[in-house]
Amino acid sequence: MSKEEKVLVIGATQGTGFEVVQMLLKDNYDVRIFARNEEKARGKFGERVEIIIGDLQNGENLSEATKNCDHIIFTAGVTKRPCGEDLIIQTEFEGMKKTLQSAKENDFNGKFLFISSIGVKKSNWASKLLNFIKGNALKWRLAMEDEIRKSGFVYTIVRAGYLMNGGGGKKPIELSQTEYPLYLKYRIARKDVARIFVEALKNIEANNKTFDAVWAKEQDNLSLKEKFASLEKDS
Ligand SMILES: NC(=O)c1ccc[n+]([C@@H]2O[C@H](COP(=O)([O-])OP(=O)(O)OC[C@H]3O[C@@H](n4cnc5c(N)ncnc54)[C@H](OP(=O)(O)O)[C@@H]3O)[C@@H](O)[C@H]2O)c1
Repeated sequence: MSKEEKVLVIGATQGTGFEVVQMLLKDNYDVRIFARNEEKARGKFGERVEIIIGDLQNGENLSEATKNCDHIIFTAGVTKRPCGEDLIIQTEFEGMKKTLQSAKENDFNGKFLFISSIGVKKSNWASKLLNFIKGNALKWRLAMEDEIRKSGFVYTIVRAGYLMNGGGGKKPIELSQTEYPLYLKYRIARKDVARIFVEALKNIEANNKTFDAVWAKEQDNLSLKEKFASLEKDS
């Protein structure tokens, strides 16, 4: 895969998206970000990335953002807590639909990568609590996944465990289709998720697969490529 492909990152100004951009730049990708706050975006990245200012809530400038990009990585989400369901629907679910629609209108032909969450398929007290505090976020995250799966685009959906700032690159990573429930013991570093995304961009073995990503209990000698290959494609 060429190292000068243009990758659009939506949700780049903090958290996992920020780590994704750092890794893409290190790998010499041409990075474009879609962000709602220009000052914050410039402060983080200076002139190293192209910035399209817009907001998922109204879809403004998504068309410009998705034009002529080779791949899209979507890590955006509502950061406000607690928050109502309307904000989750508008920003996340409708924001995803508008992103996919804009990409379609721009004849997007690359890979679409998305961070979802463990717990979207299995309800427990923790997922109920999160859904209560954050506008049914897990229900809508699964609905966002479904929009991607039916979009016709090549995709990879990573259901990340509880996200940590520290510990990236230090622990073994488990990629599986276990469909873990939401528990704090299933964790992973944002940097590790970013690495999974950048590797998934390069590997066809990650195509059209949805999987959990958490820190593993035991070390193994498999590469991420081999772990992608061990997973089933979505039906
Ligand atoms: N926390 C967890 O344990 C966990 C686990 C699994 C999955 N997730 C999901 O993973 C994703 C990444 O989480 P994170 O904690 O690494 O990142 P984060 O800190 O939640 O960052 C979210 C990003 O989305 C952007 N954003 C929010 N609303 C937007 C809008 N209306 N238009 C455009 N951009 C918008 C934010 O931009 P601003 O800088 O402008 O706010 C920020 O860059 C989230 O969607 C989260 O729900 C979280």
